[in-house]
Amino acid sequence: MNSHEHDLLLQGIEPESNHSNNPTFQSILAENIQRRTVLKGGVGATMIGALGLTMTGCKPNLLGFTPVAANRDDTITVPEGYSAKAFVPWGTPITGSFPAYREDGTNTGEEQEQQVGQHHDGMHFFPIDCKKGGESSTHGLLVMNHEYIDQGTLHPAGATLVDGVRPADEVRKEVAAHGVSVIEIAQDYSGEWHVVPSSINRRITGATEMEITGPAAGHAKMVTKFSPDGTRTRGTLNNCAHGYTPWNTYLTCEENWAGYFRTGVASAERPRELSRYGTGSSSRYRWESVNEDVYKRFDVTPTGASAAEDYRNEANTFGWIVEVDPFNPTSTPVKHTALGRFAHEGIVFQRAKSGQPIVCYSGDDATNEYIYKFVSKHNYSKRTAGSWLLDEGTLYVAKFNADGTGEWLPLDFNDAAFQARMAETGVVFADQGDVLINTRTAADMMGATKMDRPEWGAVHPRTGEVYFTLTNHSSRGAANVDAANPRGPNPYGHIIRWNEVSANFAGNAFLWDIFLLAGPVTDSAILVKEGTPALDESNIHASPDGLWFDEDGRLWIQTDMSGSQLTAGPFGNNAMLAADPNTGDVRRFLVGPYGCEVTGVINTPNARTMFVNIQHPGEPRPSDWPDGAGARPRSATVIVTKNDGGKIGG
Ligand code: FEO
Ligand code: CA
Ligand code: CA
Ligand code: CA
Repeated sequence: MNSHEHDLLLQGIEPESNHSNNPTFQSILAENIQRRTVLKGGVGATMIGALGLTMTGCKPNLLGFTPVAANRDDTITVPEGYSAKAFVPWGTPITGSFPAYREDGTNTGEEQEQQVGQHHDGMHFFPIDCKKGGESSTHGLLVMNHEYIDQGTLHPAGATLVDGVRPADEVRKEVAAHGVSVIEIAQDYSGEWHVVPSSINRRITGATEMEITGPAAGHAKMVTKFSPDGTRTRGTLNNCAHGYTPWNTYLTCEENWAGYFRTGVASAERPRELSRYGTGSSSRYRWESVNEDVYKRFDVTPTGASAAEDYRNEANTFGWIVEVDPFNPTSTPVKHTALGRFAHEGIVFQRAKSGQPIVCYSGDDATNEYIYKFVSKHNYSKRTAGSWLLDEGTLYVAKFNADGTGEWLPLDFNDAAFQARMAETGVVFADQGDVLINTRTAADMMGATKMDRPEWGAVHPRTGEVYFTLTNHSSRGAANVDAANPRGPNPYGHIIRWNEVSANFAGNAFLWDIFLLAGPVTDSAILVKEGTPALDESNIHASPDGLWFDEDGRLWIQTDMSGSQLTAGPFGNNAMLAADPNTGDVRRFLVGPYGCEVTGVINTPNARTMFVNIQHPGEPRPSDWPDGAGARPRSATVIVTKNDGGKIGG
């Protein structure tokens, strides 16, 4: 989607959708069943096991809790026997002089640079001893993204503009409320979690200096006044979901960054690296109106004699996946261009195998965009693994065929098929850096499958089966449905899954089917469950977004409904559900407060503490969570524990 549409969604305005039962619904069920039958008959026995399609009855149910009912309460609801408590809300001091949060919004930009940001999203827990192979569940680094901001709560009385110019300290605060927080946390003898006032704690913001690596580093289209050699930039923005590497670094993913920039170039004249991503004539927050270089760069209109004298290429330094070493507070974050440039939702890795390439997946969250896979050029070895593995490799884009097979199409300038497509279509790329800066255009050219907004992916910890949420696509026309996106319109979303055919996950072929179609009882189905039943009151949900497998193989699903789905109808507030992929059992586990999105989840290694992020409570419905008493709402992490000290979800 373009940034304007995203902004409308953020304000709770959603395109009108037809909520009636699609006439082809029964045929979707029949085709999915047929697809699975073909797969079971057509592939080897190992693959059948890996698909987990016929396991009903032979394994204990992974879900051991009573589902909670949908509700519209301004609180966190968890199952009987569980407790939930807010932790590290926006404004919590974590570094520097540890400035206290002020409820009236008067914290300065400088103070915000030392406090937890707004709009918590993707998150990981690094055991404090993980670099030595340890698995501490009582002490670690909680690292999280701050996707965007709510100017209404950030400032005393919202954003201001004086003669078309934003006050500089408001902008400094907004830039600082974005990015990443690295927070050392520890559990005390009573089981309470606390922030450790540690020198490891760090805020990375929309202004932190970063290095650019991979094939697009140093490219002519990356040259800016700040970095005439095209290898540096400042900041990371709109960090949605995340990933983490086998070498214990954190990856933060730049999603809806295009709208932070503006250009004075007429739409017909804009370069494809802007137009294909939706950068237009006005920016979301007007940061460029402040007369300081760090803010003026958000206007990418050419003004100088060459790219080294202005910021025409500044937006090209965004749209990437950024690696952060959370254990080294003075390290420079790295933008990895080999992983492609698009509206990255997140990134998820196959378990690394010694002597085999690194394999990871990332979705481009916009309507009709694609799912990608990266395969490293060099093989993984625990001893030598590091950031360099993400600098060279092949980026592929997914094509889902109707018969349940799929292909990974290489976006590789030196590949014969890529060159042949350039010749056939007349689309021109100068080199691999140009391909990566224009990843979407390259994927268009190769004929990738247009998806219903790919969000998070999750990889089963043992089988390597990959699940992806497709959150919704309300404007997909009935005439434009395909096997992988079978509802048009699709206001409720679905979850797709696949298995790689190659044993090392690096090959070009995969086999896929649909796990479930989200929606109300009248328009939903669990396609992997015996008899393909509809969802029921215990598990109806819409707009699945966050997705994560715990170590036992429970699939956790988080929702990001907005607009009418959130304010009326059967779904209640946004929620988190758990699914057993073997049985198809799905149960609602947690319901968030008014207006929030539930996004980001991770356990400690012993699965006795779960961290869940609650983003933008009170948008659009007024909320005073978590402070109560009419206070302004704050995004926060929620700590979920089981009262008997048991594993979460079991
Ligand atoms: Fe930031 Fe696609 O959710
Ligand atoms: Ca998301
Ligand atoms: Ca979403
Ligand atoms: Ca969000």
